[in-house]
Amino acid sequence: MKSLTSNEIRNSFLEYFKSKDHQIVKSSSIIPETDPTLLFVNAGMVPFKNVFLGLEKRPYKRAASCQKVFRVSGKHNDLDNVGYTPRHHTFFEMLGNFSFGDYFKKEAIEFAWEYLTKVLEIPEERLQVSVFKEDEEAYKIWKEHIGLPEEKIHKLGVEDNFWSMGETGPCGPSSEIYYDKGEEYGNPKLGSDEDNRYLEIWNLVFMQYNRDETGRLTPLPNPNIDTGMGLERIASVLQGAKSNYETDLFMPIINWTENISGKKYNPENPKDINTISMRVIADHLRAITFLISDGVFPSNEGRGYVLRRILRRALRYGKELGLEKPFLYQGIDVVIDIMKETYPELIGNRNFIKNLVKSEEDRFIKTLRKGMDIFYEIIEKAKKEGRKHITGKEVFTLYDTYGFPVDLIEDIAKDNGFGVDIAEYYKYLEEQKERARKSWKSQAKEVKPIYIELKNLFGENQFVGYEHLETDDSKVLAILKEDKTTDILKEGEEGEIILDKTPFYAEKGGQVGDKGIIEAEGGLFEVYDTQTPVDGLIVHKGKVVYGNIKTNDVVLAKVDKKLRQNTMRHHTATHLLHAALRNILGDHVKQAGSLVSPDILRFDFTHFESLTDEEIEKIEKLVNEEIMKNQPVVCKEMPYDEALRTGAIAIFDEKYGDVVRVISAGISVELCGGTHVSRTGDIGYFKILSEYAVSSGTRRIEAVAGEKAVEKAYNEHSLIKQISQVLTANENEILNKIENLQKKLKETEKELEAIKKKSIVDKITDILTVKEKEDYKIAYGKLENLNPNELRDLADVARAKLGKSVIMLVSVNKEKRKINFIVAVSKDLTAKIKAGEIVKQIAPLIGGKGGGRPDMAQGGGTDISKLNEAFKKFEEIT
Ligand code: ALA
Repeated sequence: MKSLTSNEIRNSFLEYFKSKDHQIVKSSSIIPETDPTLLFVNAGMVPFKNVFLGLEKRPYKRAASCQKVFRVSGKHNDLDNVGYTPRHHTFFEMLGNFSFGDYFKKEAIEFAWEYLTKVLEIPEERLQVSVFKEDEEAYKIWKEHIGLPEEKIHKLGVEDNFWSMGETGPCGPSSEIYYDKGEEYGNPKLGSDEDNRYLEIWNLVFMQYNRDETGRLTPLPNPNIDTGMGLERIASVLQGAKSNYETDLFMPIINWTENISGKKYNPENPKDINTISMRVIADHLRAITFLISDGVFPSNEGRGYVLRRILRRALRYGKELGLEKPFLYQGIDVVIDIMKETYPELIGNRNFIKNLVKSEEDRFIKTLRKGMDIFYEIIEKAKKEGRKHITGKEVFTLYDTYGFPVDLIEDIAKDNGFGVDIAEYYKYLEEQKERARKSWKSQAKEVKPIYIELKNLFGENQFVGYEHLETDDSKVLAILKEDKTTDILKEGEEGEIILDKTPFYAEKGGQVGDKGIIEAEGGLFEVYDTQTPVDGLIVHKGKVVYGNIKTNDVVLAKVDKKLRQNTMRHHTATHLLHAALRNILGDHVKQAGSLVSPDILRFDFTHFESLTDEEIEKIEKLVNEEIMKNQPVVCKEMPYDEALRTGAIAIFDEKYGDVVRVISAGISVELCGGTHVSRTGDIGYFKILSEYAVSSGTRRIEAVAGEKAVEKAYNEHSLIKQISQVLTANENEILNKIENLQKKLKETEKELEAIKKKSIVDKITDILTVKEKEDYKIAYGKLENLNPNELRDLADVARAKLGKSVIMLVSVNKEKRKINFIVAVSKDLTAKIKAGEIVKQIAPLIGGKGGGRPDMAQGGGTDISKLNEAFKKFEEIT
């Protein structure tokens, strides 16, 4: 058997088929160019699909390629096996030869056999094959034409030997070639899950049918040949590797993971978590490199989501190796070095790929760091409770609060020997949606029956306020006074007016209702607020300022333009803020509530920690950049499903109708029924006022836009001006000046303190209560905020002044609720009175303890209210 590098294998394979008149075709991108049914190219035949189907003609009938393929979704999904088996990958290269209505089974089998046994010189006795059990033709070719003994031709069923590209598309019976790794791998059933002995190296598909959406098979115009040999597997054979990972395609990456982690890779023990982790990382790094190079970027849907998932999965296994900081981006170099000869485009893309991976890592590690600790707590708890699974509620918390992808949760749980109650998780997910819907509804207040009646009577009112701020031909359909219909509303009366059509926006989706006026021939009604108590019914609340308003009046309905414009600025700014938050903090950020008014915008969102000043600045900057780009704000109406497919963000999905409005403004695409400015530049300027927690896991940003933001900036500036006047310093100097003032203040305070202490020292005997006893004096007193050393010095001074004496000095620290005290006894008295003993008796009275020498002892306590008692005791016992 030849020993070849992977580069040599690719070349030898393509050379062989070139010598058999095959056109060598370059690998196409992993993103299917023409096939909307597939997320990724999952087999070597995908770029030729239309040729197989007879839809496309090529100038050749035989082709061979080494195609990049990716199997993480749809029919062929190997993700869960990666790292845990010796032979499954997400990304791999498939060597294939194809016949488009040219040769068929006989030649396909001949070529494969010749290439393996003659070119690669694999001993025939090492090879076995399988055929589809009904495919007598293939069986006969192997047996009679090639001369394989019967026991080496296995007849298998549909699961093993009928290959299809996806749910639909070309398919047909197949024949597989297995390499026997030897008896040391036991005696398993060929092709079974536990089979690590017989390695399927080549799949020859006799492409005869097309499967349509209904599952029906129709014969293709010509019988075709599609074959696939995994480069990694054949390399493992030719390089004598135990698994695909010990080949030259993976080993440099694995060695690199060993170096950076300091852990050992051990192929002898494939269940070792370090080994599994290194395999996963090596596999995923290749996938990440090629996906990005082919134009897939991390996102929350479709291909981008797959990329994000595997990147996060790789990071998670990195954590198993003790790698806590971003590291994957460095491994990109290792992958590129292995692959650049075959895929030179990687070289030019190197920096781009690395930068993108680094920023994605930074973002996720932050999320993960927080969440992993919680996760391990959950696992510990489960262990304590003797559970073998993580509850759906726990999964939901990790997902909802910490942004953990659910498949990642399942992975981590699995590695710790735990299952996951996925059904319960879905229940919580549903409940959350229901809650969101309910909270939405409860915001819309209780519906009074009168509104339902009116809605039934008049149908939907027409809202023209997206385009117009006034109408001059609206008709008063109904008037409500104290919840009852009336024909007339008189001067000074409050009530509600319903028009057939109106430019007034009724409060919805966080945007407050419009204010303005409704003017009839005979009167003027001021609109304080607009609400929609029932879907489709628009109610203008307010008061008749003069004259009166009657049903059937034809009126001028005029929205307060200035207020509405300010509201629109805040609304579009809210969308930009939402997008900026997701951009900068990550996609775990979800809207949790919002208020859009003329004065302010308030945005609640899921995020588990407070924002740093730097983050706030970045967010503010990004929003302002988008404003300055002055991009058009485009509104498109489209079916809900289609809108979601475009990646638009939906908030309360249940609330949307079948047709929704999608608002695109710069970096933001969002489903929204609100009113918006026409270009981002109309927002003018955006300024964050505050950021704080509203509940655990939910933060709130308050911000202003346009006029209000300018006002804010002006006020801040004028404040600075005033400060600089007061400080008589120019703007650049005020900080310095304040710092200097603070420093000076501190120094002055210190000096003052020193003076105070000195005066205490001078007057100490005046401060103390002094009493005469037989031939000595006792003295005691209370001071504030002195430490034991200062007390001791003072006691010394007092003792010197008083002569033969016993002194007790107490210092109280009210803030800290602490007392410390000193008892000093002059030397000539210590034979009779001992300071240490006095302290021992007094300290318990104030809830503390103490002791010391006969001439000087100290104690402490906490009960300030007992001080008088303590002094009394002192008098008694001295
Ligand atoms: N298209 C076949 C496969 O991927 C050869 O296995």
